[in-house]
Amino acid sequence: MMSTLSPEEQFAQERKERLDAYARDKDFQSLSHQWLQQSMASKYVYNFDWLGRPIIQYPQDMWAVQELIWRVRPDLIIETGIAHGGSLVLSASMLALLDMCDAIEAGTMLDARASQRKVLGVDIDIRAHNLSAVEAHPMASRIQMIQGSSVDGAVVQQVHQVAKNYSRVLVFLDSMHTHDHVLAELEAYAPLVSSGSYCVVFDTFVEDMPHGFFCDRPWDVGNSPKTAVQQFLSGNDDFLVDKDMESKLMITVAPGGYLQRR
Ligand SMILES: C[S@@+](CC[C@H](N)C(=O)[O-])C[C@H]1O[C@@H](n2cnc3c(N)ncnc32)[C@H](O)[C@@H]1O
Repeated sequence: MMSTLSPEEQFAQERKERLDAYARDKDFQSLSHQWLQQSMASKYVYNFDWLGRPIIQYPQDMWAVQELIWRVRPDLIIETGIAHGGSLVLSASMLALLDMCDAIEAGTMLDARASQRKVLGVDIDIRAHNLSAVEAHPMASRIQMIQGSSVDGAVVQQVHQVAKNYSRVLVFLDSMHTHDHVLAELEAYAPLVSSGSYCVVFDTFVEDMPHGFFCDRPWDVGNSPKTAVQQFLSGNDDFLVDKDMESKLMITVAPGGYLQRR
């Protein structure tokens, strides 16, 4: 029988069928899990830069971030956990591309410095060399940083104050990966996520590693971002897990952590 689908619909359908097959493919999942564990043990996550700044992420998840930013077209991205600033610069550079695309679509001149689109980062310890490097980066005009704990009441209030001026908000949580901390971050920042947008909780994979894998860290199996997400979702119907995202990535530090707001 002749297909009534357009070529684009056909391509999307084939992709969806492929992702559903990956979600059932225990061998592929096991291999991916094994690779994630070995690469984590080898500190692979520290190998990458974005526009010159170290980014402590897997390239696969950053590809997902790019897809989400295009899908949501946010005007504000809130990030907890700055480290060297690579993820802030990535978000800021994607917002710059969105501005460029808006200008092309509208047939107007691009005035990058006039853009309202912004990244707001929070970190308890912004090291002086990282602060000055981010401040000197060409993307700096789009980046605002707050130093303090992401669950401190005054910091949360400051973030909410900034967010009042924006309508499409995307949130990335990547700071302290203990259960209580991530749960408190979810309670503080998930309400800021706009409908259809995402709150991405990184490092949920901790729950899937062997007990004691992070022997020098306060998080472990049973005390991880994934247990926080599970508790958060048990009392919250506003978000659902985007399972297709982890199926397509196969290798991700955020399984069950791509949360989309209804
Ligand atoms: C994994 S790194 C962030 C990596 C960064 N998002 C990137 O992609 O390059 C975690 C960061 O969380 C910060 N952090 C730890 N505890 C925190 C807290 N209570 N509040 C805010 N940030 C915290 C650390 O200082 C560290 O810079």
